[in-house]
Amino acid sequence: MRSSIIAAATFALGALATPVIQKRDCNDTCMTYEQATVVANNFKSLIANYSDALADQTLTVDFVDYSDSVTELINSGCTGPQTLGEPTFNGRAAFEAGQGSQPPIPFEILNLWYACEGPVVMRWRSAQSPEIITGNIVIETTRSDGSEPWLMNTVYSEFNSGAWLVNLGVFVPNCTANGTSAVGPVGKRSLSQRLFPM
Ligand SMILES: *[C@@H]1O[C@H](CO)[C@@H](O)[C@H](O)[C@H]1NC(C)=O
Ligand SMILES: *[C@@H]1O[C@H](CO)[C@@H](O)[C@H](O)[C@H]1NC(C)=O
Ligand SMILES: *[C@@H]1O[C@H](CO)[C@@H](O)[C@H](O)[C@H]1NC(C)=O
Ligand SMILES: *[C@@H]1O[C@H](CO)[C@@H](O)[C@H](O)[C@H]1NC(C)=O
Repeated sequence: MRSSIIAAATFALGALATPVIQKRDCNDTCMTYEQATVVANNFKSLIANYSDALADQTLTVDFVDYSDSVTELINSGCTGPQTLGEPTFNGRAAFEAGQGSQPPIPFEILNLWYACEGPVVMRWRSAQSPEIITGNIVIETTRSDGSEPWLMNTVYSEFNSGAWLVNLGVFVPNCTANGTSAVGPVGKRSLSQRLFPM
C-alpha cells in the first residue's frame, strides 16, 4: 500500500517535471545478469564437471568455502575431523584438494539472484537417488580484469546433507513398506513431537 502511494506520488511528480533518470545499480562497477549467470554456471561446473584449471580460473587464491553441510558429509555425521562452524575449505588449494577427489555430481540451478558487486545467490538441486538434494548458496565475488570479470572469493553453502547421508548409506533410515518412518520424532509418533533434541 505504502509503495503504491509512493509510486503514485512519483508518477504525479514525473508528469509535471522532466524525469531525471538516475543511474543507480546499473553502472560500470556492477555485474550484468549475463555475468551473474557466468558466476553461477562456474560454480555449477566446479560441482558437476570439476577440473583444477576451472578452479584456478574462477576462484580467488584466498577463496573460502563455508558449508557445515559439506563438513557433515566429510565427517559422516561425527564431530570430526572437520569442525562445524569453521571454514570447510580455507583457500583455493584446500578446495581443489577436497573437490578434486569427487566424482561429477548432478547439479541444476533452480533460481538465481544477484546484486551489483555480488553476491550471486542460487537455489539448486541435485537429482540424486533415492533422495533429491536441494540447497542454497551465497557466492561473494571480486572484480577481476582476467578472463573472468567476477571471481568467487567466499561461498556460504548449505543443503540437505541428511538426504545426502542417506544416499551414501551412512545414515540408514528405518522405513515402513509405504515409505514413512517407523521411528523417530515423526513417523509412528505424533506429528507434534518436537523435532530438535534441545
Ligand atoms: C556504481 O554503483 C555502485 C553501487 O551502487 C557505487 O558504489 C559506485 O560508486 C557507482 N559508480 C559510479 C561510477 O557511478
Ligand atoms: C567438462 O569440462 C571439460 C574441460 O575440463 C570440457 O571439455 C567439457 O566440455 C565439460 N563437459 C560438460 C558436460 O560441460
Ligand atoms: C525399526 O523400527 C521398528 C519400530 O520401532 C523396530 O521394531 C525395528 O527393530 C527397527 N529396525 C531397525 C533395523 O532398527
Ligand atoms: C504406512 O505404514 C505404517 C505402518 O504400517 C502405518 O502406520 C501408516 O499409517 C501408513 N501410512 C500411510 C500414509 O499409509
